[in-house]
Amino acid sequence: MRVLVTGAGRGLGLGFVQHYLRAGATVWAAHRGDPGGLAALERKRLHLLRWDVSRDDGPKGVLPPAIDLLINNAGIYGPPKAQQALATVTPQAMLDVFNVDCVGPLRVVQALHARLAPGGVVANISSKMGSSTDNRSGGTYAYRAAKAALLVVSRSMAVDLAAREVHVLSLHPGWVATDMTGGRGLIDVQTSVAGMADVLRRAREYESGAFVAFDGSLVPY
Ligand SMILES: NC(=O)c1ccc[n+]([C@@H]2O[C@H](COP(=O)([O-])OP(=O)(O)OC[C@H]3O[C@@H](n4cnc5c(N)ncnc54)[C@H](OP(=O)(O)O)[C@@H]3O)[C@@H](O)[C@H]2O)c1
Repeated sequence: MRVLVTGAGRGLGLGFVQHYLRAGATVWAAHRGDPGGLAALERKRLHLLRWDVSRDDGPKGVLPPAIDLLINNAGIYGPPKAQQALATVTPQAMLDVFNVDCVGPLRVVQALHARLAPGGVVANISSKMGSSTDNRSGGTYAYRAAKAALLVVSRSMAVDLAAREVHVLSLHPGWVATDMTGGRGLIDVQTSVAGMADVLRRAREYESGAFVAFDGSLVPY
């Protein structure tokens, strides 16, 4: 199995890399400059790439000839919550988060779609924060809007890649203790990644374009 993960140097991305290496896969791990935790891993089935998904100049490094699983994990929260309120969020913050969290995965799929193997899977890491149904607390304009837009993009990808037999899922990792959450969360990286990997193993039990949480439940959006 050939897996490519973006934002792979820390947090959930690094967790995915470790999970799939343990499972025997060959992994292409993309980081945007600092390899972080990747530096300590054995390179036998691990290939490192540089890829800043906010930019148009694409990846640096040797790409896999074919990809069975593409995990669009790279993402940012943007400014702290207090700076994403109705009174405080700036147009620039909206655009910056949108560029990484929504346009980023689109850039990655545009660059790699010809390499996606028939029967393969694209996983776009969104967030329940992007679900309008779930939004009862308001605020967090930049992150919510970017993750919501990623759900829409995933849905179009699901339709457009169906003829190539590529299945697309949006995933919600849960509230996971990583740098993004300041180390707070209900679950750890291992629990979240194990759950999402189980969903991805059973990806075709879900309609392509579905939004699925780490525990296998469908997320309305
Ligand atoms: N943690 C949660 O509770 C939670 C919940 C819902 C969704 N998510 C989503 O899960 C994904 C991973 O989050 P995390 O919690 O692991 O966050 P994290 O610890 O902050 O890690 C984010 C990763 O994304 C990379 N990244 C950021 N901007 C990038 C860019 N322009 N190009 C390439 N890579 C970039 C970072 O690379 P650097 O090391 O170079 O900065 C880092 O590897 C994100 O999409 C996030 O929105 C997380």
